[in-house]
Amino acid sequence: MNNPQLNKNGELQHLLSTEGLPAPILRNILDRAASFVNVAEGREIKKVPLLHGKSVFNIFFENSTRTRTTFEIAAKRLSADVVNLNIGSSSASKGETLLDTVDNLCAMHADMFVVRHSQSGAAHLIARHVAPEIHVINAGDGRHAHPTQALLDMFTIRHYKREFHNLRVAIVGDILHSRVARSQIHALTTLGVPEVRVIAPQTLLPANVEKLGVQVYHDMLHGLRDVDVVMMLRLQNERMQGAALPSAQEYFKYYGLTQEKLALAKDDAIVMHPGPMNRGVEIDSSVADGSHSVILPQVTFGIAVRMAVMSTLAGAQ
Ligand code: NCD
Repeated sequence: MNNPQLNKNGELQHLLSTEGLPAPILRNILDRAASFVNVAEGREIKKVPLLHGKSVFNIFFENSTRTRTTFEIAAKRLSADVVNLNIGSSSASKGETLLDTVDNLCAMHADMFVVRHSQSGAAHLIARHVAPEIHVINAGDGRHAHPTQALLDMFTIRHYKREFHNLRVAIVGDILHSRVARSQIHALTTLGVPEVRVIAPQTLLPANVEKLGVQVYHDMLHGLRDVDVVMMLRLQNERMQGAALPSAQEYFKYYGLTQEKLALAKDDAIVMHPGPMNRGVEIDSSVADGSHSVILPQVTFGIAVRMAVMSTLAGAQ
């Protein structure tokens, strides 16, 4: 198997993308995460020693709230030493290359890197560069991939819906600029979801998106009908060159999730969002805070899922 994420024993060496990962690896991470949810809920001391003595470096070249903090909490619950590199005040801002920064951190005996970067492929580059005992996790690279977000989304879906094989899932919004959507689509199809829909204006869809195995809708009124899961996405204004859309108000009218549009989905549908949310742009506050929303549980599950990923990588031989 020629997958840069797997070692010669077929074990997960790096987590760079959900694309091309076999279903058993995805399922093992979800099962392991379930055991960590129990650690958090059932114990007075929420720590386990699986990464004791290991150093995890969080290197975030792009802003983040949820992802960086939940990686830090996850590493600490595994008893690792965590170093957060503040890129704004690091030598990267003085012109040091990415790989020189990484070499210096390796010289400090890093065991694992958690990397976020605005350039697609940054985590792959680091993974190819480091010594074989070092593990790299992609925490979001450009528009390309955000595998731990997709895995925590899969965990959330399985938590509420139990199975994947009987679901209809809609991903709504700015698919074009979204690394989250790409990683979600690969994970959903690998785990056996029979119907994945994308709902977006033509200007916010990648070319040939249907080749990823999804059904394309331009209209929420058709696309949301009878779905079990609605996954909303933020409008990624910072990645848009020129105006892909007339206005935020217009966008909300056609692609914002309101109670009326959600009523088209199944009665027990769940509503998800990776955050940060723009209330009144892609989602109405009454839906974001309503009874179908599982947006905050997603964040909590993210800790257990990131613990599962880090401990899986640390166990690779
Ligand atoms: C996403 C990201 O940064 O890719 N957020 C996240 O990690 N929870 C989505 C976004 O920025 O819209």
